[in-house]
Amino acid sequence: MSFDMILTETRGAVGLITLNRPKAMNALCDQLYTELGVALHAFDDDPAIGCIVLTGSEKAFAAGADIKEIQAKTFQDVYAEEFITKKWEEVTKLRTPVIAAVAGYALGGGCELAMMCDFILAADTAKFGQPEITIGTIPGAGGTQRLTRFVGKSKAMEMVLTGRMIDAVEAERSGLVSRIVPAAELLEDALRTAEKIAAFSRPVVYMAKEATNRAYETTLAEGVRFERRLFHASFALEDQKEGMAAFAEKRKPNFKNR
Ligand code: CAA
Repeated sequence: MSFDMILTETRGAVGLITLNRPKAMNALCDQLYTELGVALHAFDDDPAIGCIVLTGSEKAFAAGADIKEIQAKTFQDVYAEEFITKKWEEVTKLRTPVIAAVAGYALGGGCELAMMCDFILAADTAKFGQPEITIGTIPGAGGTQRLTRFVGKSKAMEMVLTGRMIDAVEAERSGLVSRIVPAAELLEDALRTAEKIAAFSRPVVYMAKEATNRAYETTLAEGVRFERRLFHASFALEDQKEGMAAFAEKRKPNFKNR
Protein backbone atom coordinates (compact mmCIF):
# COMPACT_ATOMS: atom_id res chain seq x y z
CA MET A 1 0.00 0.00 0.00
CA SER A 2 1.38 3.42 -0.87
CA PHE A 3 -0.23 6.71 0.11
CA ASP A 4 0.66 10.42 0.18
CA MET A 5 -0.85 11.52 3.48
CA ILE A 6 -0.58 8.44 5.67
CA LEU A 7 2.09 5.83 6.29
CA THR A 8 1.24 2.19 6.77
CA GLU A 9 3.29 -0.75 7.96
CA THR A 10 2.76 -4.08 9.61
CA ARG A 11 4.51 -5.09 12.82
CA GLY A 12 3.82 -8.79 13.24
CA ALA A 13 0.05 -9.12 13.58
CA VAL A 14 -0.44 -5.36 14.08
CA GLY A 15 -1.29 -2.86 11.36
CA LEU A 16 0.16 0.60 12.04
CA ILE A 17 -1.28 3.69 10.36
CA THR A 18 0.46 7.04 10.87
CA LEU A 19 -1.27 10.24 9.81
CA ASN A 20 1.43 12.09 7.91
CA ARG A 21 0.55 15.61 6.86
CA PRO A 22 3.03 17.49 9.06
CA LYS A 23 2.72 20.91 7.40
CA ALA A 24 -0.97 21.10 8.32
CA MET A 25 -0.86 19.44 11.76
CA ASN A 26 -2.47 16.37 10.16
CA ALA A 27 -5.59 18.37 9.29
CA LEU A 28 -8.10 15.91 7.92
CA CYS A 29 -8.64 16.76 4.27
CA ASP A 30 -10.59 14.73 1.75
CA GLN A 31 -7.53 12.93 0.38
CA LEU A 32 -6.30 11.98 3.84
CA TYR A 33 -9.68 10.55 4.77
CA THR A 34 -9.93 8.66 1.48
CA GLU A 35 -6.52 7.10 2.07
CA LEU A 36 -7.29 6.33 5.69
CA GLY A 37 -10.48 4.50 4.73
CA VAL A 38 -8.63 2.35 2.20
CA ALA A 39 -5.86 1.50 4.67
CA LEU A 40 -8.24 0.68 7.52
CA HIS A 41 -10.33 -1.67 5.39
CA ALA A 42 -7.23 -3.32 3.91
CA PHE A 43 -5.93 -4.15 7.40
CA ASP A 44 -9.40 -5.24 8.52
CA ASP A 45 -9.65 -7.59 5.53
CA ASP A 46 -6.19 -9.07 6.16
CA PRO A 47 -6.51 -12.28 8.22
CA ALA A 48 -2.93 -11.86 9.46
CA ILE A 49 -3.80 -8.59 11.23
CA GLY A 50 -5.37 -8.81 14.70
CA CYS A 51 -5.24 -5.18 15.83
CA ILE A 52 -4.66 -1.74 14.32
CA VAL A 53 -2.83 1.25 15.83
CA LEU A 54 -3.71 4.71 14.50
CA THR A 55 -1.32 7.50 15.41
CA GLY A 56 -0.13 10.93 14.32
CA SER A 57 3.00 12.95 15.00
CA GLU A 58 4.59 14.20 18.22
CA LYS A 59 2.90 17.57 17.68
CA ALA A 60 -0.52 16.50 16.50
CA PHE A 61 -2.65 13.41 16.24
CA ALA A 62 -4.86 15.63 14.04
CA ALA A 63 -5.90 19.29 14.33
CA GLY A 64 -9.36 18.66 12.93
CA ALA A 65 -11.07 19.00 9.59
CA ASP A 66 -9.03 20.93 7.04
CA ILE A 67 -10.53 24.37 7.63
CA LYS A 68 -9.02 25.81 4.45
CA GLU A 69 -10.55 23.01 2.37
CA ILE A 70 -14.05 23.32 3.80
CA GLN A 71 -14.35 27.05 4.51
CA ALA A 72 -15.97 27.94 1.17
CA LYS A 73 -18.35 25.00 1.02
CA THR A 74 -22.05 25.86 0.89
CA PHE A 75 -24.92 24.06 2.56
CA GLN A 76 -25.73 22.42 -0.80
CA ASP A 77 -22.13 21.20 -1.10
CA VAL A 78 -21.90 19.55 2.32
CA TYR A 79 -25.43 18.15 2.11
CA ALA A 80 -25.04 16.78 -1.40
CA GLU A 81 -21.66 15.16 -0.79
CA GLU A 82 -22.77 13.79 2.59
CA PHE A 83 -19.76 15.46 4.17
CA ILE A 84 -18.53 13.45 7.18
CA THR A 85 -21.04 10.61 6.73
CA LYS A 86 -19.61 9.31 3.48
CA LYS A 87 -15.92 8.94 4.33
CA TRP A 88 -15.12 9.84 7.92
CA GLU A 89 -16.72 7.00 9.83
CA GLU A 90 -14.96 4.01 8.21
CA VAL A 91 -13.03 3.32 11.41
CA THR A 92 -16.31 2.56 13.18
CA LYS A 93 -17.16 -0.14 10.63
CA LEU A 94 -14.24 -2.48 11.33
CA ARG A 95 -14.36 -5.70 13.33
CA THR A 96 -10.62 -5.42 14.10
CA PRO A 97 -9.90 -3.33 17.22
CA VAL A 98 -8.32 0.06 16.56
CA ILE A 99 -6.21 1.82 19.21
CA ALA A 100 -5.76 5.58 18.87
CA ALA A 101 -2.28 6.53 20.10
CA VAL A 102 -2.55 10.28 20.64
CA ALA A 103 0.31 12.73 21.19
CA GLY A 104 -0.07 16.49 20.86
CA TYR A 105 -3.26 18.03 19.53
CA ALA A 106 -6.43 16.01 18.94
CA LEU A 107 -8.83 18.80 18.09
CA GLY A 108 -12.20 18.96 16.39
CA GLY A 109 -12.36 16.14 13.85
CA GLY A 110 -9.06 14.85 15.30
CA CYS A 111 -10.63 14.37 18.72
CA GLU A 112 -13.67 12.87 17.02
CA LEU A 113 -11.50 10.45 15.03
CA ALA A 114 -9.74 9.34 18.21
CA MET A 115 -13.10 8.80 19.90
CA MET A 116 -14.29 6.67 16.95
CA CYS A 117 -11.42 4.25 17.67
CA ASP A 118 -11.92 1.50 20.26
CA PHE A 119 -9.82 3.15 22.93
CA ILE A 120 -7.38 6.01 23.28
CA LEU A 121 -3.86 5.80 24.71
CA ALA A 122 -2.61 9.31 25.43
CA ALA A 123 0.92 10.63 25.57
CA ASP A 124 1.50 13.04 28.44
CA THR A 125 1.64 15.76 25.76
CA ALA A 126 -1.87 15.04 24.43
CA LYS A 127 -4.46 17.81 24.26
CA PHE A 128 -8.08 17.19 23.39
CA GLY A 129 -10.70 19.72 22.37
CA GLN A 130 -13.71 20.55 20.25
CA PRO A 131 -12.88 24.13 19.19
CA GLU A 132 -15.41 24.32 16.33
CA ILE A 133 -17.39 27.03 18.13
CA THR A 134 -14.40 29.35 17.80
CA ILE A 135 -14.57 29.10 13.99
CA GLY A 136 -18.31 29.51 13.65
CA THR A 137 -19.55 25.93 13.53
CA ILE A 138 -20.18 22.92 15.78
CA PRO A 139 -18.58 19.45 15.94
CA GLY A 140 -19.74 17.46 12.93
CA ALA A 141 -18.10 14.05 13.29
CA GLY A 142 -19.88 12.89 16.41
CA GLY A 143 -18.17 15.19 18.94
CA THR A 144 -21.29 16.36 20.71
CA GLN A 145 -22.45 12.75 21.10
CA ARG A 146 -19.32 10.70 21.75
CA LEU A 147 -17.59 13.25 23.98
CA THR A 148 -20.74 13.49 26.12
CA ARG A 149 -20.83 9.71 26.51
CA PHE A 150 -17.13 9.63 27.46
CA VAL A 151 -16.84 12.55 29.88
CA GLY A 152 -20.45 13.32 30.88
CA LYS A 153 -22.66 16.25 30.00
CA SER A 154 -21.13 18.97 32.12
CA LYS A 155 -17.54 18.70 30.89
CA ALA A 156 -18.60 17.96 27.30
CA MET A 157 -20.92 20.93 27.26
CA GLU A 158 -18.25 23.23 28.65
CA MET A 159 -15.72 22.00 26.07
CA VAL A 160 -18.16 22.30 23.17
CA LEU A 161 -19.47 25.73 24.21
CA THR A 162 -16.09 27.30 25.03
CA GLY A 163 -13.63 25.35 22.88
CA ARG A 164 -11.48 24.74 25.99
CA MET A 165 -8.83 22.07 25.53
CA ILE A 166 -8.12 19.48 28.20
CA ASP A 167 -4.72 17.94 28.83
CA ALA A 168 -3.91 14.24 29.19
CA VAL A 169 -4.39 14.22 32.97
CA GLU A 170 -7.86 15.76 32.74
CA ALA A 171 -8.70 13.45 29.83
CA GLU A 172 -7.75 10.38 31.85
CA ARG A 173 -9.54 11.63 34.96
CA SER A 174 -12.73 12.11 32.99
CA GLY A 175 -12.63 8.77 31.20
CA LEU A 176 -11.76 9.96 27.70
CA VAL A 177 -8.51 7.98 27.54
CA SER A 178 -7.63 4.59 28.95
CA ARG A 179 -4.08 5.46 30.07
CA ILE A 180 -1.37 8.12 29.93
CA VAL A 181 2.07 7.11 28.70
CA PRO A 182 5.28 9.19 28.52
CA ALA A 183 5.40 10.64 25.00
CA ALA A 184 8.65 8.86 24.13
CA GLU A 185 7.04 5.49 24.93
CA LEU A 186 3.64 6.04 23.32
CA LEU A 187 4.14 4.14 20.09
CA GLU A 188 5.96 1.18 21.65
CA ASP A 189 3.31 0.92 24.35
CA ALA A 190 0.49 1.09 21.79
CA LEU A 191 2.16 -1.56 19.64
CA ARG A 192 2.75 -3.81 22.66
CA THR A 193 -0.89 -3.42 23.70
CA ALA A 194 -2.01 -4.16 20.14
CA GLU A 195 0.21 -7.26 19.96
CA LYS A 196 -1.36 -8.54 23.15
CA ILE A 197 -4.87 -8.16 21.66
CA ALA A 198 -3.76 -9.67 18.34
CA ALA A 199 -2.47 -12.78 20.15
CA PHE A 200 -5.92 -13.66 21.49
CA SER A 201 -8.48 -15.63 19.51
CA ARG A 202 -9.67 -13.38 16.65
CA PRO A 203 -13.35 -14.38 16.77
CA VAL A 204 -13.39 -13.89 20.54
CA VAL A 205 -11.78 -10.44 20.16
CA TYR A 206 -14.44 -9.52 17.58
CA MET A 207 -17.17 -10.68 19.97
CA ALA A 208 -15.69 -8.74 22.89
CA LYS A 209 -15.48 -5.57 20.78
CA GLU A 210 -18.97 -5.96 19.37
CA ALA A 211 -20.52 -6.60 22.78
CA THR A 212 -18.69 -3.69 24.45
CA ASN A 213 -19.70 -1.31 21.66
CA ARG A 214 -23.30 -2.39 22.08
CA ALA A 215 -23.30 -0.65 25.48
CA TYR A 216 -23.32 2.66 23.58
CA GLU A 217 -26.19 1.73 21.31
CA THR A 218 -28.89 0.17 23.44
CA THR A 219 -30.55 -0.24 26.82
CA LEU A 220 -28.88 -2.19 29.63
CA ALA A 221 -31.33 -5.11 29.35
CA GLU A 222 -30.89 -5.38 25.56
CA GLY A 223 -27.13 -4.97 25.88
CA VAL A 224 -26.88 -7.75 28.45
CA ARG A 225 -29.07 -9.99 26.27
CA PHE A 226 -26.79 -9.29 23.29
CA GLU A 227 -23.69 -10.01 25.38
CA ARG A 228 -25.22 -13.27 26.68
CA ARG A 229 -25.87 -14.52 23.14
CA LEU A 230 -22.29 -13.85 22.07
CA PHE A 231 -20.97 -15.35 25.31
CA HIS A 232 -22.98 -18.51 24.58
CA ALA A 233 -21.74 -18.48 20.97
CA SER A 234 -18.12 -18.38 22.15
CA PHE A 235 -18.65 -21.91 23.52
CA ALA A 236 -18.97 -23.12 19.93
CA LEU A 237 -15.38 -22.07 19.22
CA GLU A 238 -12.37 -24.39 19.34
CA ASP A 239 -10.49 -21.49 20.90
CA GLN A 240 -12.81 -21.43 23.92
CA LYS A 241 -12.07 -25.14 24.48
CA GLU A 242 -8.35 -24.51 24.01
CA GLY A 243 -8.31 -21.42 26.29
CA MET A 244 -10.04 -23.17 29.17
CA ALA A 245 -8.09 -26.43 28.72
CA ALA A 246 -4.84 -24.43 28.79
CA PHE A 247 -5.90 -22.77 32.04
CA ALA A 248 -6.75 -26.13 33.63
CA GLU A 249 -3.48 -27.67 32.40
CA LYS A 250 -1.43 -24.66 33.56
CA ARG A 251 -0.01 -23.93 30.08
CA LYS A 252 -0.24 -21.15 27.50
CA PRO A 253 -3.18 -21.42 25.11
CA ASN A 254 -2.54 -22.01 21.43
CA PHE A 255 -5.37 -20.18 19.72
CA LYS A 256 -6.23 -21.19 16.16
CA ASN A 257 -8.70 -18.36 15.46
CA ARG A 258 -11.48 -20.90 15.03
N1 CAA B 1 -7.08 22.97 9.01
C1 CAA B 1 -6.20 23.46 8.13
N2 CAA B 1 -4.95 23.83 8.45
C2 CAA B 1 -4.58 23.69 9.74
C3 CAA B 1 -5.45 23.18 10.72
C4 CAA B 1 -6.76 22.80 10.31
N3 CAA B 1 -7.65 22.27 11.16
N4 CAA B 1 -4.80 23.17 11.91
C5 CAA B 1 -3.57 23.64 11.67
N5 CAA B 1 -3.43 23.95 10.37
C6 CAA B 1 -2.25 24.52 9.69
C7 CAA B 1 -2.09 26.01 9.98
O1 CAA B 1 -2.93 26.77 9.14
C8 CAA B 1 -0.62 26.20 9.71
O2 CAA B 1 -0.43 26.25 8.32
P1 CAA B 1 0.52 27.41 7.67
O3 CAA B 1 1.89 27.09 8.22
O4 CAA B 1 0.39 27.17 6.20
O5 CAA B 1 0.00 28.70 8.15
C9 CAA B 1 0.00 24.88 10.20
O6 CAA B 1 -1.06 23.93 10.23
C10 CAA B 1 0.56 24.97 11.60
O7 CAA B 1 -0.46 25.47 12.46
P2 CAA B 1 -0.23 26.71 13.45
O8 CAA B 1 0.77 27.67 12.89
O9 CAA B 1 -1.58 27.25 13.79
O10 CAA B 1 0.43 25.96 14.71
P3 CAA B 1 0.30 26.33 16.24
O11 CAA B 1 1.26 25.43 16.95
O12 CAA B 1 0.44 27.80 16.46
O13 CAA B 1 -1.21 25.94 16.66
C11 CAA B 1 -3.19 24.52 16.68
C12 CAA B 1 -1.63 24.60 16.56
C13 CAA B 1 -3.59 24.92 18.10
C14 CAA B 1 -3.57 23.07 16.41
C15 CAA B 1 -3.83 25.48 15.66
O14 CAA B 1 -3.28 25.22 14.38
C16 CAA B 1 -5.32 25.37 15.56
O15 CAA B 1 -6.04 25.92 16.38
N6 CAA B 1 -5.83 24.64 14.51
C17 CAA B 1 -7.24 24.56 14.23
C18 CAA B 1 -7.96 23.65 15.21
C19 CAA B 1 -9.45 23.62 14.90
O16 CAA B 1 -10.15 24.61 14.94
N7 CAA B 1 -9.96 22.40 14.59
C20 CAA B 1 -11.36 22.20 14.25
C21 CAA B 1 -11.53 22.12 12.78
S1 CAA B 1 -13.22 22.04 12.28
C22 CAA B 1 -13.68 20.44 12.51
O17 CAA B 1 -12.88 19.59 12.84
C23 CAA B 1 -15.12 20.14 12.22
C24 CAA B 1 -15.53 18.74 12.58
O18 CAA B 1 -16.03 18.47 13.63
C25 CAA B 1 -15.39 17.70 11.59
